[in-house]
Amino acid sequence: MILVTGGAGFIGANFVLDWLAASQEPVINLDKLTYAGNLETLTSLQGDARHIFVQGDIGDSALVSRLLTEHQPRAVINFAAESHVDRSIHGPGDFIQTNIVGTFHLLEAARGYWGDLQGEARAAFRFLHVSTDEVYGSLGPGDAAFTETHRYEPNSPYSASKAASDHLVRAWHHTYGLPVITTNCSNNYGPYHFPEKLIPLMIVNALAGKTLPVYGDGMQVRDWLYVKDHCSAIRRVLEAGKLCETYNVGGWNEKPNIEIVHTVCALLDELRPKADGTSYKTQISYVKDRPGHDRRYAIDARKLESELGWKPVETFESGIRKTVQWYLTNPGWVANVQSGAYREWVQTQYAGQEAA
Ligand code: NAD
Ligand code: DAU
Repeated sequence: MILVTGGAGFIGANFVLDWLAASQEPVINLDKLTYAGNLETLTSLQGDARHIFVQGDIGDSALVSRLLTEHQPRAVINFAAESHVDRSIHGPGDFIQTNIVGTFHLLEAARGYWGDLQGEARAAFRFLHVSTDEVYGSLGPGDAAFTETHRYEPNSPYSASKAASDHLVRAWHHTYGLPVITTNCSNNYGPYHFPEKLIPLMIVNALAGKTLPVYGDGMQVRDWLYVKDHCSAIRRVLEAGKLCETYNVGGWNEKPNIEIVHTVCALLDELRPKADGTSYKTQISYVKDRPGHDRRYAIDARKLESELGWKPVETFESGIRKTVQWYLTNPGWVANVQSGAYREWVQTQYAGQEAA
Protein backbone atom coordinates (compact mmCIF):
# COMPACT_ATOMS: atom_id res chain seq x y z
CA MET A 1 0.00 0.00 0.00
CA ILE A 2 1.20 3.52 -0.83
CA LEU A 3 -0.29 6.88 0.14
CA VAL A 4 -0.42 9.40 -2.69
CA THR A 5 -1.37 13.01 -1.98
CA GLY A 6 -2.79 15.24 -4.71
CA GLY A 7 -3.73 12.17 -6.76
CA ALA A 8 -6.72 13.88 -8.41
CA GLY A 9 -4.53 16.54 -10.04
CA PHE A 10 -2.70 16.37 -13.35
CA ILE A 11 0.48 14.47 -12.45
CA GLY A 12 -0.87 12.70 -9.35
CA ALA A 13 -3.81 11.21 -11.27
CA ASN A 14 -1.57 10.09 -14.14
CA PHE A 15 0.68 8.50 -11.51
CA VAL A 16 -2.21 6.64 -9.81
CA LEU A 17 -3.59 5.41 -13.15
CA ASP A 18 -0.16 4.20 -14.31
CA TRP A 19 0.63 2.64 -10.93
CA LEU A 20 -2.56 0.57 -10.85
CA ALA A 21 -2.15 -0.40 -14.50
CA ALA A 22 1.23 -1.93 -13.66
CA SER A 23 0.85 -3.18 -10.09
CA GLN A 24 -1.61 -4.80 -7.71
CA GLU A 25 -0.35 -2.70 -4.78
CA PRO A 26 -3.23 -0.52 -3.54
CA VAL A 27 -3.18 3.28 -3.34
CA ILE A 28 -4.79 5.58 -0.79
CA ASN A 29 -5.35 8.82 -2.62
CA LEU A 30 -5.66 11.89 -0.36
CA ASP A 31 -6.76 14.99 -2.24
CA LYS A 32 -8.50 18.17 -1.11
CA LEU A 33 -10.22 18.53 -4.50
CA THR A 34 -9.35 22.17 -5.05
CA TYR A 35 -10.25 23.65 -8.45
CA ALA A 36 -7.32 21.58 -9.84
CA GLY A 37 -8.47 18.24 -8.45
CA ASN A 38 -10.82 16.28 -10.66
CA LEU A 39 -12.27 12.88 -9.83
CA GLU A 40 -13.49 12.47 -13.40
CA THR A 41 -9.88 11.73 -14.35
CA LEU A 42 -10.09 8.65 -12.12
CA THR A 43 -13.45 7.36 -13.42
CA SER A 44 -11.83 4.18 -14.77
CA LEU A 45 -10.97 3.22 -11.16
CA GLN A 46 -14.56 3.32 -9.92
CA GLY A 47 -15.31 0.08 -8.05
CA ASP A 48 -11.61 -0.87 -8.03
CA ALA A 49 -10.81 -1.96 -4.46
CA ARG A 50 -7.14 -1.10 -5.00
CA HIS A 51 -7.97 2.64 -5.08
CA ILE A 52 -9.15 4.27 -1.86
CA PHE A 53 -9.99 7.92 -2.41
CA VAL A 54 -10.18 10.26 0.60
CA GLN A 55 -11.11 13.91 0.23
CA GLY A 56 -8.98 15.89 2.68
CA ASP A 57 -6.14 18.29 3.31
CA ILE A 58 -2.47 17.32 3.75
CA GLY A 59 -2.49 19.97 6.49
CA ASP A 60 -5.05 17.98 8.51
CA SER A 61 -2.61 16.08 10.73
CA ALA A 62 -5.31 14.12 12.54
CA LEU A 63 -6.73 12.82 9.26
CA VAL A 64 -3.30 11.98 7.80
CA SER A 65 -2.20 10.23 11.02
CA ARG A 66 -5.41 8.20 11.05
CA LEU A 67 -4.94 7.16 7.40
CA LEU A 68 -1.33 6.16 8.03
CA THR A 69 -2.16 4.10 11.13
CA GLU A 70 -5.17 2.45 9.53
CA HIS A 71 -3.60 1.55 6.17
CA GLN A 72 0.10 1.15 7.11
CA PRO A 73 1.52 2.37 3.75
CA ARG A 74 5.15 1.67 2.91
CA ALA A 75 5.52 5.09 1.29
CA VAL A 76 4.02 8.58 1.07
CA ILE A 77 4.33 10.29 -2.31
CA ASN A 78 3.55 13.96 -2.00
CA PHE A 79 2.14 15.56 -5.16
CA ALA A 80 -0.36 17.81 -3.36
CA ALA A 81 0.37 21.48 -4.01
CA GLU A 82 -0.90 24.70 -5.44
CA SER A 83 0.92 24.53 -8.75
CA HIS A 84 0.13 27.49 -11.03
CA VAL A 85 2.63 30.37 -11.09
CA ASP A 86 0.12 32.97 -12.36
CA ARG A 87 -2.30 32.13 -9.54
CA SER A 88 0.55 32.47 -7.02
CA ILE A 89 1.11 36.01 -8.30
CA HIS A 90 -2.57 36.94 -7.89
CA GLY A 91 -2.93 35.24 -4.49
CA PRO A 92 0.09 33.71 -2.74
CA GLY A 93 -1.75 32.80 0.48
CA ASP A 94 -2.97 29.35 -0.60
CA PHE A 95 0.57 28.52 -1.82
CA ILE A 96 2.08 29.30 1.57
CA GLN A 97 -0.68 27.35 3.29
CA THR A 98 -0.59 24.15 1.24
CA ASN A 99 2.96 24.03 -0.09
CA ILE A 100 4.72 25.07 3.12
CA VAL A 101 2.38 24.65 6.10
CA GLY A 102 0.64 21.63 4.55
CA THR A 103 3.95 19.91 3.81
CA PHE A 104 5.07 20.60 7.39
CA HIS A 105 1.95 18.90 8.80
CA LEU A 106 2.34 15.99 6.40
CA LEU A 107 5.98 15.54 7.43
CA GLU A 108 5.02 15.59 11.09
CA ALA A 109 2.31 12.99 10.58
CA ALA A 110 4.73 10.81 8.59
CA ARG A 111 7.40 11.22 11.29
CA GLY A 112 4.95 10.11 13.99
CA TYR A 113 3.90 7.06 11.96
CA TRP A 114 7.42 6.08 10.90
CA GLY A 115 8.68 6.52 14.48
CA ASP A 116 6.29 3.78 15.61
CA LEU A 117 7.22 1.35 12.83
CA GLN A 118 9.56 -1.53 13.65
CA GLY A 119 12.13 -3.64 11.82
CA GLU A 120 11.69 -4.10 8.06
CA ALA A 121 8.67 -1.81 7.79
CA ARG A 122 10.65 1.01 9.39
CA ALA A 123 13.69 0.42 7.18
CA ALA A 124 11.62 0.25 3.99
CA PHE A 125 9.46 3.36 4.60
CA ARG A 126 9.94 6.31 2.20
CA PHE A 127 8.61 9.87 2.03
CA LEU A 128 8.97 10.95 -1.62
CA HIS A 129 8.47 14.67 -2.18
CA VAL A 130 7.61 15.75 -5.73
CA SER A 131 9.11 19.14 -6.51
CA THR A 132 10.02 21.36 -9.40
CA ASP A 133 12.97 22.78 -11.34
CA GLU A 134 11.60 26.28 -10.63
CA VAL A 135 13.28 26.25 -7.21
CA TYR A 136 16.62 26.82 -9.02
CA GLY A 137 15.50 30.13 -10.54
CA SER A 138 16.24 31.34 -14.05
CA LEU A 139 19.13 30.53 -16.43
CA GLY A 140 20.85 32.78 -18.97
CA PRO A 141 21.03 31.62 -22.62
CA GLY A 142 24.49 30.02 -22.32
CA ASP A 143 24.27 28.71 -18.76
CA ALA A 144 24.63 25.00 -18.03
CA ALA A 145 21.42 23.14 -17.17
CA PHE A 146 20.38 22.80 -13.50
CA THR A 147 22.14 20.00 -11.64
CA GLU A 148 21.07 18.81 -8.18
CA THR A 149 23.72 21.05 -6.59
CA HIS A 150 22.57 24.25 -8.29
CA ARG A 151 21.73 26.79 -5.62
CA TYR A 152 18.10 27.57 -4.82
CA GLU A 153 17.05 30.94 -6.26
CA PRO A 154 13.22 30.85 -6.49
CA ASN A 155 11.61 33.92 -8.06
CA SER A 156 7.83 33.48 -7.81
CA PRO A 157 5.60 32.92 -4.78
CA TYR A 158 4.96 29.42 -6.20
CA SER A 159 8.62 28.49 -6.58
CA ALA A 160 9.53 30.06 -3.23
CA SER A 161 6.84 27.98 -1.53
CA LYS A 162 8.08 24.80 -3.24
CA ALA A 163 11.68 25.67 -2.30
CA ALA A 164 10.59 26.10 1.32
CA SER A 165 8.87 22.72 1.25
CA ASP A 166 12.02 21.09 -0.18
CA HIS A 167 14.04 22.56 2.70
CA LEU A 168 11.55 21.21 5.26
CA VAL A 169 11.77 17.75 3.71
CA ARG A 170 15.56 17.85 3.84
CA ALA A 171 15.57 19.06 7.45
CA TRP A 172 13.16 16.31 8.55
CA HIS A 173 15.76 13.80 7.37
CA HIS A 174 18.82 15.48 8.85
CA THR A 175 17.17 16.26 12.17
CA TYR A 176 14.76 13.38 12.72
CA GLY A 177 16.06 10.73 10.34
CA LEU A 178 12.85 10.56 8.31
CA PRO A 179 13.69 8.57 5.14
CA VAL A 180 13.00 11.18 2.46
CA ILE A 181 13.83 11.58 -1.23
CA THR A 182 13.03 14.65 -3.37
CA THR A 183 12.56 14.88 -7.12
CA ASN A 184 12.80 18.18 -9.05
CA CYS A 185 11.13 17.93 -12.42
CA SER A 186 10.81 20.21 -15.42
CA ASN A 187 7.55 21.22 -17.17
CA ASN A 188 5.14 18.33 -17.69
CA TYR A 189 2.53 17.99 -20.43
CA GLY A 190 0.09 15.27 -21.45
CA PRO A 191 -3.44 13.98 -20.79
CA TYR A 192 -5.61 15.49 -18.01
CA HIS A 193 -3.57 18.72 -17.86
CA PHE A 194 -5.73 21.54 -16.50
CA PRO A 195 -6.27 24.13 -19.25
CA GLU A 196 -4.82 27.04 -17.28
CA LYS A 197 -1.29 25.88 -18.20
CA LEU A 198 0.37 26.76 -21.53
CA ILE A 199 -0.10 23.64 -23.68
CA PRO A 200 -3.69 22.67 -22.77
CA LEU A 201 -4.76 26.34 -22.77
CA MET A 202 -3.45 26.75 -26.32
CA ILE A 203 -5.26 23.60 -27.47
CA VAL A 204 -8.63 24.46 -25.95
CA ASN A 205 -8.46 28.15 -26.93
CA ALA A 206 -7.48 27.27 -30.49
CA LEU A 207 -10.39 24.86 -30.87
CA ALA A 208 -12.80 27.41 -29.35
CA GLY A 209 -11.67 30.08 -31.86
CA LYS A 210 -10.20 32.21 -29.06
CA THR A 211 -6.89 34.07 -28.98
CA LEU A 212 -3.70 32.23 -27.99
CA PRO A 213 -2.11 34.52 -25.37
CA VAL A 214 1.70 34.44 -25.53
CA TYR A 215 3.37 36.32 -22.67
CA GLY A 216 5.99 38.95 -23.55
CA ASP A 217 8.15 38.03 -26.56
CA GLY A 218 7.37 34.30 -26.32
CA MET A 219 11.10 33.49 -26.14
CA GLN A 220 11.10 32.13 -22.59
CA VAL A 221 12.47 28.60 -22.59
CA ARG A 222 10.97 25.63 -20.74
CA ASP A 223 12.20 22.02 -20.68
CA TRP A 224 9.28 19.71 -21.48
CA LEU A 225 8.66 16.15 -20.26
CA TYR A 226 5.71 13.92 -21.09
CA VAL A 227 3.82 13.30 -17.85
CA LYS A 228 4.03 9.51 -18.05
CA ASP A 229 7.82 9.76 -18.20
CA HIS A 230 7.74 11.84 -15.01
CA CYS A 231 5.58 9.10 -13.42
CA SER A 232 8.05 6.38 -14.45
CA ALA A 233 10.90 8.44 -12.95
CA ILE A 234 9.06 8.68 -9.64
CA ARG A 235 8.43 4.92 -9.62
CA ARG A 236 12.13 4.31 -10.27
CA VAL A 237 13.24 6.75 -7.56
CA LEU A 238 10.84 5.13 -5.09
CA GLU A 239 12.26 1.75 -5.97
CA ALA A 240 15.98 2.53 -5.98
CA GLY A 241 16.61 6.17 -4.97
CA LYS A 242 19.11 6.83 -2.17
CA LEU A 243 17.89 8.33 1.08
CA CYS A 244 17.93 12.11 1.36
CA GLU A 245 19.14 12.42 -2.21
CA THR A 246 17.52 14.72 -4.72
CA TYR A 247 17.02 13.70 -8.35
CA ASN A 248 16.44 16.08 -11.24
CA VAL A 249 13.92 14.78 -13.77
CA GLY A 250 13.81 16.12 -17.32
CA GLY A 251 13.61 15.16 -20.96
CA TRP A 252 16.34 17.30 -22.57
CA ASN A 253 13.62 19.14 -24.49
CA GLU A 254 14.29 22.85 -24.18
CA LYS A 255 11.93 24.93 -26.33
CA PRO A 256 10.91 28.58 -26.46
CA ASN A 257 7.20 29.09 -25.74
CA ILE A 258 6.43 30.44 -29.20
CA GLU A 259 7.81 27.25 -30.76
CA ILE A 260 5.51 25.19 -28.53
CA VAL A 261 2.53 27.27 -29.62
CA HIS A 262 3.49 26.92 -33.29
CA THR A 263 3.82 23.14 -32.87
CA VAL A 264 0.38 22.88 -31.26
CA CYS A 265 -1.11 24.99 -34.07
CA ALA A 266 0.56 22.87 -36.76
CA LEU A 267 -0.76 19.64 -35.21
CA LEU A 268 -4.26 21.08 -34.99
CA ASP A 269 -4.01 22.31 -38.59
CA GLU A 270 -3.23 18.72 -39.57
CA LEU A 271 -5.65 16.85 -37.28
CA ARG A 272 -8.60 19.29 -37.09
CA PRO A 273 -8.19 21.81 -39.96
CA LYS A 274 -10.25 24.99 -39.71
CA ALA A 275 -13.23 25.25 -42.03
CA ASP A 276 -11.98 28.56 -43.49
CA GLY A 277 -8.61 27.02 -44.41
CA THR A 278 -6.56 29.42 -42.24
CA SER A 279 -4.00 28.24 -39.70
CA TYR A 280 -4.64 28.30 -35.94
CA LYS A 281 -1.47 30.46 -35.82
CA THR A 282 -3.60 33.43 -36.89
CA GLN A 283 -5.14 33.31 -33.36
CA ILE A 284 -1.79 34.01 -31.63
CA SER A 285 -1.77 37.24 -29.65
CA TYR A 286 1.25 38.61 -27.75
CA VAL A 287 0.08 39.87 -24.35
CA LYS A 288 1.61 41.54 -21.29
CA ASP A 289 4.39 39.49 -19.71
CA ARG A 290 4.11 37.58 -16.43
CA PRO A 291 5.68 39.67 -13.62
CA GLY A 292 9.12 38.30 -12.67
CA HIS A 293 8.89 35.80 -15.53
CA ASP A 294 11.79 33.31 -15.40
CA ARG A 295 13.57 33.35 -18.77
CA ARG A 296 14.92 29.83 -19.05
CA TYR A 297 14.76 26.47 -17.27
CA ALA A 298 16.84 23.45 -18.28
CA ILE A 299 17.28 20.20 -16.39
CA ASP A 300 20.41 18.10 -16.30
CA ALA A 301 18.97 14.62 -15.63
CA ARG A 302 22.23 12.70 -15.83
CA LYS A 303 22.24 11.65 -12.17
CA LEU A 304 18.86 9.90 -12.51
CA GLU A 305 19.89 8.39 -15.84
CA SER A 306 23.29 7.09 -14.77
CA GLU A 307 22.61 6.09 -11.15
CA LEU A 308 19.09 4.69 -11.55
CA GLY A 309 19.01 3.86 -15.25
CA TRP A 310 15.91 5.94 -15.99
CA LYS A 311 15.21 7.22 -19.50
CA PRO A 312 12.12 8.96 -20.91
CA VAL A 313 10.16 6.97 -23.48
CA GLU A 314 8.62 9.86 -25.41
CA THR A 315 10.39 12.42 -27.57
CA PHE A 316 8.77 15.84 -27.60
CA GLU A 317 7.42 15.12 -31.08
CA SER A 318 5.71 11.86 -30.07
CA GLY A 319 4.47 13.23 -26.73
CA ILE A 320 2.97 16.44 -28.07
CA ARG A 321 1.17 14.55 -30.85
CA LYS A 322 -0.33 12.15 -28.29
CA THR A 323 -1.34 15.11 -26.14
CA VAL A 324 -3.11 17.02 -28.91
CA GLN A 325 -4.85 13.80 -29.98
CA TRP A 326 -5.96 13.19 -26.37
CA TYR A 327 -7.58 16.64 -26.14
CA LEU A 328 -9.31 16.10 -29.49
CA THR A 329 -10.80 12.81 -28.34
CA ASN A 330 -11.77 13.96 -24.83
CA PRO A 331 -13.83 17.14 -25.28
CA GLY A 332 -16.16 16.02 -22.46
CA TRP A 333 -13.33 16.07 -19.88
CA VAL A 334 -12.33 19.55 -21.04
CA ALA A 335 -15.91 20.86 -20.95
CA ASN A 336 -16.40 19.56 -17.42
CA VAL A 337 -13.26 21.18 -15.99
CA GLN A 338 -14.22 24.51 -17.54
CA SER A 339 -16.53 25.23 -14.61
CA GLY A 340 -17.61 28.60 -13.22
CA ALA A 341 -14.38 28.77 -11.20
CA TYR A 342 -12.31 28.16 -14.34
CA ARG A 343 -14.13 30.86 -16.29
CA GLU A 344 -13.64 33.32 -13.42
CA TRP A 345 -9.87 32.64 -13.46
CA VAL A 346 -9.58 33.17 -17.21
CA GLN A 347 -11.46 36.46 -16.84
CA THR A 348 -9.14 37.65 -14.01
CA GLN A 349 -5.93 36.62 -15.74
CA TYR A 350 -6.52 37.59 -19.37
CA ALA A 351 -9.03 40.48 -19.30
CA GLY A 352 -7.63 43.56 -21.04
CA GLN A 353 -4.40 41.77 -22.02
CA GLU A 354 -4.92 41.75 -25.76
CA ALA A 355 -2.26 44.32 -26.68
CA ALA A 356 1.21 43.63 -25.35
P1 NAD B 1 -2.21 20.20 -10.02
O1 NAD B 1 -2.45 21.61 -9.61
O2 NAD B 1 -2.74 19.72 -11.32
O3 NAD B 1 -2.76 19.20 -8.90
C1 NAD B 1 -2.56 19.42 -7.53
C2 NAD B 1 -3.49 18.49 -6.77
O4 NAD B 1 -3.27 18.70 -5.36
C3 NAD B 1 -4.98 18.77 -7.01
O5 NAD B 1 -5.67 17.56 -7.21
C4 NAD B 1 -5.44 19.46 -5.74
O6 NAD B 1 -6.81 19.21 -5.43
C5 NAD B 1 -4.53 18.82 -4.70
N1 NAD B 1 -4.33 19.67 -3.51
C6 NAD B 1 -4.07 21.00 -3.49
N2 NAD B 1 -3.97 21.42 -2.20
C7 NAD B 1 -4.13 20.32 -1.43
C8 NAD B 1 -4.12 20.10 -0.02
N3 NAD B 1 -3.91 21.11 0.84
N4 NAD B 1 -4.31 18.85 0.44
C9 NAD B 1 -4.54 17.81 -0.42
N5 NAD B 1 -4.60 17.97 -1.75
C10 NAD B 1 -4.38 19.21 -2.26
O7 NAD B 1 -0.63 20.02 -9.94
P2 NAD B 1 0.32 19.10 -10.84
O8 NAD B 1 0.70 19.85 -12.05
O9 NAD B 1 -0.29 17.75 -10.94
O10 NAD B 1 1.61 19.04 -9.89
C11 NAD B 1 1.75 18.01 -8.92
C12 NAD B 1 3.04 18.23 -8.16
O11 NAD B 1 4.14 18.20 -9.06
C13 NAD B 1 3.13 19.59 -7.47
O12 NAD B 1 3.76 19.42 -6.24
C14 NAD B 1 3.99 20.44 -8.40
O13 NAD B 1 4.69 21.42 -7.68
C15 NAD B 1 4.91 19.39 -8.96
N6 NAD B 1 5.44 19.64 -10.31
C16 NAD B 1 4.59 19.98 -11.33
C17 NAD B 1 5.10 20.15 -12.61
C18 NAD B 1 4.21 20.50 -13.79
O14 NAD B 1 4.72 20.79 -14.87
N7 NAD B 1 2.89 20.47 -13.66
C19 NAD B 1 6.47 20.00 -12.84
C20 NAD B 1 7.31 19.68 -11.76
C21 NAD B 1 6.77 19.48 -10.51
O1 DAU C 1 9.00 23.95 -14.48
C1 DAU C 1 8.07 23.20 -13.77
C2 DAU C 1 6.82 24.00 -13.55
O2 DAU C 1 6.15 24.07 -14.79
C3 DAU C 1 5.91 23.43 -12.48
O3 DAU C 1 6.58 23.45 -11.24
C4 DAU C 1 4.61 24.24 -12.40
O4 DAU C 1 3.73 23.62 -11.46
C5 DAU C 1 3.97 24.23 -13.76
O5 DAU C 1 2.79 25.01 -13.74
C6 DAU C 1 4.94 24.79 -14.80
O6 DAU C 1 5.19 26.19 -14.57
P1 DAU C 1 5.28 27.25 -15.77
O7 DAU C 1 5.01 28.59 -15.24
O8 DAU C 1 6.52 27.04 -16.56
O9 DAU C 1 4.04 26.69 -16.67
P2 DAU C 1 2.89 27.45 -17.48
O10 DAU C 1 2.20 26.42 -18.29
O11 DAU C 1 2.06 28.32 -16.60
O12 DAU C 1 3.72 28.39 -18.45
C7 DAU C 1 4.68 27.84 -19.35
C8 DAU C 1 5.32 29.01 -20.08
O13 DAU C 1 4.33 29.57 -20.97
C9 DAU C 1 5.76 30.15 -19.18
O14 DAU C 1 6.95 30.70 -19.69
C10 DAU C 1 4.62 31.16 -19.26
C11 DAU C 1 4.10 30.97 -20.66
N1 DAU C 1 2.63 31.22 -20.84
C12 DAU C 1 1.77 30.58 -19.98
C13 DAU C 1 0.40 30.78 -20.10
C14 DAU C 1 -0.56 30.09 -19.15
C15 DAU C 1 2.17 32.02 -21.85
O15 DAU C 1 2.97 32.58 -22.64
N2 DAU C 1 0.83 32.22 -21.98
C16 DAU C 1 -0.09 31.65 -21.13
O16 DAU C 1 -1.31 31.91 -21.28
